[in-house]
Amino acid sequence: MMAPCLTSLVIDPQAPEDSGFDLWRNLAREQLACATPPDAVEFQDARSALSCSLHLSHNRAPASGTSSSTTPPHVPRSFLDDAAVAAHHRSPHRWNLLYRVLWRLQSDKNLLHISIDPDVAQLRSIVHQVRHDLHKMHAFVRFRRIEDQQGEHFIAWHKPAHRILALAAPFFIERFSVMRWSILTPDNSVSWDPASRTASFGPGADRSQAPAEDELEAFWRTYYSNIFNPARLNPSAMRSHMPVKYWSTLPEVNVLPGLINRAENRVGSMMASQKATPSAQPFIPEIPTLPVLHQALPACQGCDLFRHATQVVCGRGPSSATLMLVGEQPGDKEDQLGAPFVGPAGELLRQAFHEVGIVGEELYMTNAVKHFKFVQRGKLRIHKNPAQSEVNACRPWLEAEIHAIKPQVILCMGATAAKTLLGGTFALMRDHGRFVPTRYADQTIATIHPSAILRTADKAKAKDLYQLMKEDLAMAWSRSRCPPPPPVNPVYPTTA
Ligand code: URA
Ligand code: SF4
Repeated sequence: MMAPCLTSLVIDPQAPEDSGFDLWRNLAREQLACATPPDAVEFQDARSALSCSLHLSHNRAPASGTSSSTTPPHVPRSFLDDAAVAAHHRSPHRWNLLYRVLWRLQSDKNLLHISIDPDVAQLRSIVHQVRHDLHKMHAFVRFRRIEDQQGEHFIAWHKPAHRILALAAPFFIERFSVMRWSILTPDNSVSWDPASRTASFGPGADRSQAPAEDELEAFWRTYYSNIFNPARLNPSAMRSHMPVKYWSTLPEVNVLPGLINRAENRVGSMMASQKATPSAQPFIPEIPTLPVLHQALPACQGCDLFRHATQVVCGRGPSSATLMLVGEQPGDKEDQLGAPFVGPAGELLRQAFHEVGIVGEELYMTNAVKHFKFVQRGKLRIHKNPAQSEVNACRPWLEAEIHAIKPQVILCMGATAAKTLLGGTFALMRDHGRFVPTRYADQTIATIHPSAILRTADKAKAKDLYQLMKEDLAMAWSRSRCPPPPPVNPVYPTTA
C-alpha cells in the first residue's frame, strides 16, 4: 500500500509579536475546505521546519466529494479562543493538534466537552501551561532603571517557558502606562513609549543586554521585605510560586534568608490552617497598600476558583475614594477584560450613575470574590454563585482593600456582598437602603444588584427594582460627599 502523500505547511510569522495563529487559521481553513484529513497534513514552525518543506500554494480547489464547500466549517468560539492561546506554546506539535481537534469538531460538535478525549485533554493542558506561564510572567518581571538619551528607561529581562510576550504585554501596559519601559526575552522584546502610547515589538535579546543591578535593587528588597508573605517561603509553595529559574532576576531573593529565619513558625501554622480551610490570608502582603495589594492579588491560590478563571479581577478606582461599591464576583466579560463591572450589569450600573449624577471615576469598585465562577455549557460560561467557603476564602482581600481605602460609605451590591459585610441575617429586600455602622465603615448600605434587575423578566418589576437601586445609589453617593456623621451603635452584627 502506498504511504499517503504528506503535505507540509510552514507557519512563518513575519512580525516578532505574531504567534502565527492567524496564519495557521487561514491554512487550516483551506485544508478543511479541501477535506484534507489531519494525517495527510503537517504544520511546521518556520524556525523548526526542514529546508525541504514546501510553502504551499494555498489556492487548491476543494477535493471532489467533500461537503465542506457548501457547509461552513464548525468552529466554536471557545475553540478559537483556546487555539489563540495554545499558539503561544513552544511545542512544535501544537498546530497539528489544533488541526486535529478542528477536523474532529466537524463530525463531533460535542468533542470539546469530552475531557477524557486525548486530543481535548492535550489541548486543555497546553492552554493551561501557557496561562500558567503568563501568570508567572506577570508576577516575576522586575524592572531595572537606566538613563539613556531620552531619559529614564526601565528594563526587565525574563525568560518565559513559552512565547508569551505579546499575551503578557497588555498587563504591563496597563500597570506601567506612564513609564518608558522594555521587556526583553530570548524570543522577542517589547518597548512601551508613554508619549505616543505605543508598544513596539522587536527581536529577542540576550540576558547580557539588560542591566544587572541598579539603585532600584535596594527599593525592591525593602518592598519585598514589606510585602513579604511567609507562605512564599514554604519550600513547596516557593517551588510552585517562585520557580528557581526566575531567582536570578529577583532582587528580593537576597533578603530571603533573613526572612526565612523569622518566618519559619508562622509559615508552618499558616500552611496547616490553609489546608484545612481555604483562605487568601497567606497571600495577603504584610503592608497592604492598594498598589501592593493589586500587585500581590494575581498570585492568590486561596481557593480553587483561580484554576478555571482567565485572570483575577482587582478592584478599580482611586485610593482616595470615599464611596466603595462591592459586587459579588466578576462575570464572563470582567473575567476576560480583567476589570470589575464592565459587562451588562456594569452597563446598567453606569446608566444609573449617569441618571443620578454619580461620577463613576471617583468610586472604588470591587467584588466580594475576585475570580469568576462558572459552569461551561457549550460555548457559554454560565455564572455560578460562589460558595460560602469561597466568599470566606476571599474575604481577606476585600478587608485589605477596605483597610487601604477607608471609605466613608460602603455600598454592597446584592445579597452576597451584603451578607459578607452586614452579616448572614441581612435580608436584602427588607433591609436595603438603610445605613448601618459596621467595623468596615461607619456607613454601610446595601442595594439590589444590577444583574438581578437584568434577570427580572417582568418589565414593570424590573423598572421598580431599577428605581430602588437608583435611590440607594443616590443616597450612598450623597452621604459619601458629606463629612462623616458621629458614630452610633451598630444595628447589624459586626462580626461578619
Ligand atoms: N457582577 C458583579 O457583582 N461584579 C462584577 O464585577 C460584574 C458583575
Ligand atoms: Fe484567591 Fe479569592 Fe481568587 Fe479564591 S477567589 S483564588 S481567594 S482571589
